[in-house]
Amino acid sequence: MKKTIIRTILLGLLFSSVSFAGGDSLAGQKKVEQICQACHGLDGQGINDTYPKLAGQFADYMVRALMDYKSGARKNAIMSGFAATLTENDMENVAAYYSRLDANRLHDLSIK
Ligand code: HEC
Repeated sequence: MKKTIIRTILLGLLFSSVSFAGGDSLAGQKKVEQICQACHGLDGQGINDTYPKLAGQFADYMVRALMDYKSGARKNAIMSGFAATLTENDMENVAAYYSRLDANRLHDLSIK
């Protein structure tokens, strides 16, 4: 009996943490089209070496980075400005979008 209760609680925790990482990638794409693609690209490869590649990056890593830029825990003049415009929900959505892209796709498709 006790074991069942504990197991139920553990399963609940597992699924709640999964849903945390489950942003809406379609809503995320809209934000990326409006803001982020100027530097990170719609394909997440970064338009040049100045900008970090986000394609295939872990979603929870990106949410954490964006929250840290917004709070000032991570300092960058460019990103703190953009992160300030995002809600936590927006962050989960853009992270869902970029994490689903292929990390290895070349930015310049003509090289292939
Ligand atoms: C004007 C260019 C520019 C725009 C627009 C921009 N970024 Fe960035 N982004 C940067 C730069 C430069 C860095 C590296 C900052 C640093 O060194 O911490 C960065 C870093 C990041 C990182 C951390 C990457 C890592 O590997 O730690 C994330 C996540 C990120 N940006 C997401 C976004 C999202 C989401 C948007 C749109 C809402 C966005 N950025 C818009 C320039 C930009």
